Amino acid sequence: MTDRTRSLVIDTDTGSDDAVALIMAFNHPDCTVRAVTVVAGNVPLESCVRNALITADLVGQQQVPVFVGLHKPLLRPLETAAGIHGDDGMSGAQLPDPSRQADRQHAVQALLDIADQEPGQHILVTLGPLSNIATALLIDPQLLTKFQHTYMMVGAADGIGNVNAVAEFNAWVDPEAAALVFAAPGAKTMIGWDVCRKNTVMRAEDETRILAAGPIGQFASDIRRQVREFSIELNGASDHEFPDPAAMAVALDESLIVESDYRHMLVSTDEQTRGLTFADYGLPAKAPTVRVITTLDEAGFKAQLFAALSGL
Ligand code: BDR
Ligand code: CA
Repeated sequence: MTDRTRSLVIDTDTGSDDAVALIMAFNHPDCTVRAVTVVAGNVPLESCVRNALITADLVGQQQVPVFVGLHKPLLRPLETAAGIHGDDGMSGAQLPDPSRQADRQHAVQALLDIADQEPGQHILVTLGPLSNIATALLIDPQLLTKFQHTYMMVGAADGIGNVNAVAEFNAWVDPEAAALVFAAPGAKTMIGWDVCRKNTVMRAEDETRILAAGPIGQFASDIRRQVREFSIELNGASDHEFPDPAAMAVALDESLIVESDYRHMLVSTDEQTRGLTFADYGLPAKAPTVRVITTLDEAGFKAQLFAALSGL
């Protein structure tokens, strides 16, 4: 490993944008993926696991362990985003069966073991509901301090949601888990829906570049067909945000952060505002718990994305 090499543990509810984020990590020249842990979210757990394995196969990363985690949120039934990503999470694209099965160890145990046995060596990137991470934290409250940093695609810093009025999907699916993770010690960065709306919108010309990237670009396009169709239904255009790739881009290259600040972040578990992520600015002032990104370098993000899909 060179000094620049980053080693990632990626927790994912592998649907279509998670798969693209995984490719960005797998194909990054200065990154190794230590493990993938899977959680239910976009679609039921079994499909998320299958999608993670297929994605690793696609880029020749069969050696990366894939661990199966929680099949539902801590306290609530699972509510998926199959309406957006398709019943299989991958727009029903014709994909080959994975070449292997997932590892036998539970994802929560894998997170605990990797953190314990290799402290300070890895970066944690979370792309789904935080159920696996929160469960591991209930066993080891210091878990996140054993990672170099935790980058999370979760929440909405401006309180504008994509599921209900105020909540982003990952926070909304398992708000109790998100609250536990926000409160846990350890360096954390939140890449929320607000910054995705502002700086990650994929337009027709971006799709053209994705397709031009070759077979991996074709895969990235095929698995997102239903997201584009959903956007056309919603807004009359296929333009759509790209949340998990944005979080991965930052985890791979902090220089993409244009504006950020540190906040004492909380998560609502009340029904009407379920999953709202908000800062407590009340007095007396509380210690910040999370770095919140509010502006990303959009051109830099897309350049990193296109390079990864081209296999550069
Ligand atoms: C998040 O929800 C999921 O649908 C995406 O994979 C992303 O992690 C965006 O709100
Ligand atoms: Ca996700």
